[in-house]
Amino acid sequence: MASVLVTGGAGFVGLNLLEALLGRGEEVVAFGREDALPEAAAAAFEKLPGRLTLVQGDVLDAAALKALFATHRIDRVFPFAAITAGPVREASVPAAIIDVNLKGLIATLEAARDAGGVKRVILPSSAAVYGEAAYDHALLDEATTPCVPISLYGVTKYAVERAGLRLASQWGLDAIAARIGATFGPWERDTGVRDTLSPHLAIATIAKNGGEAVLPATVHGYDWVYVRDLAAGLLALMDAEAAPHRVFNLASGRDWSPHLDSCCATMAKTLPGFRWRRASAGEEPGIRFPEIRPRGVMHIGRARALGWAPRFTPDAAYADYAAWISAT
Ligand SMILES: NC(=O)c1ccc[n+]([C@@H]2O[C@H](COP(=O)([O-])OP(=O)(O)OC[C@H]3O[C@@H](n4cnc5c(N)ncnc54)[C@H](O)[C@@H]3O)[C@@H](O)[C@H]2O)c1
Repeated sequence: MASVLVTGGAGFVGLNLLEALLGRGEEVVAFGREDALPEAAAAAFEKLPGRLTLVQGDVLDAAALKALFATHRIDRVFPFAAITAGPVREASVPAAIIDVNLKGLIATLEAARDAGGVKRVILPSSAAVYGEAAYDHALLDEATTPCVPISLYGVTKYAVERAGLRLASQWGLDAIAARIGATFGPWERDTGVRDTLSPHLAIATIAKNGGEAVLPATVHGYDWVYVRDLAAGLLALMDAEAAPHRVFNLASGRDWSPHLDSCCATMAKTLPGFRWRRASAGEEPGIRFPEIRPRGVMHIGRARALGWAPRFTPDAAYADYAAWISAT
């Protein structure tokens, strides 16, 4: 049986991909810096029908990637290892970010090309590619909204998309770029290379411990996507037989900000020690949201046309997340 390779498999999105793939009985190879999965994930994944092999290694190590493809019959690839750098990290180690995000991707594609037999590669792009354009477009569309990335991370993600698609076409690989919206949900954790943990993780951590979350008085629009929906969307891109496009937005397609209080109320039903309130005038909120300006919502018509649609409303996502937190 052929395997699916997930680089960065022990990261947040990676773990959700592993869970979704193993859940449907796939053979999966997770490759990354970690020598083990988080204990709870390892225990949960053991019960799933698929088979997982964890290989420790660096995506900048061409020999390790070559050995990986030589050992496993890999036919689908999620080259998801990355550094999601915030402003401090991008100012201090810019080359390291470009190395992992771009050179690591190219090294993985080269290994896939040399091994042969790879049928589909899903390139990990991001909402960050829209950058400045997200603030003056109500709808962020793959075809018509310009890409004006601001952060170095966003720049590398745009390069992942364009260089990845270009090289894939040169090398006979079938690649699709997924522009992934900001996500949250099960298995999110600090991997040491992601500086932008979601505010939902901060809320969930307080909820689990039974404390009070102080939310900002105003939260600007943001189209969060629940990670279980994201994983399903990524699998839909992997499975699509004849994808009519090479770039797909994967997001919820809706602004979550008006639902935040009702989401917290939903979470408190499962985790009754949890309290929350809005910050009063002049008070510093305990929970920080990433956006300080209103931004557009990613249009998900292309992904919907493939047959994928987000299943979770904001409340349903919080209910599921709360159940997961209390069981983990
Ligand atoms: N989380 C989001 O909201 C989001 C949004 C858009 C795009 N993405 C993309 O999804 C992918 C996964 O992101 P995530 O949120 O799971 O991040 P994460 O930090 O949770 O996981 C990244 C993983 O990559 C691994 N890694 C980093 N450098 C490596 C190296 N040199 N060699 C091998 N492994 C290495 C890390 O150890 C970690 O396991 C990334 O490509 C990211 O750009 C994520």
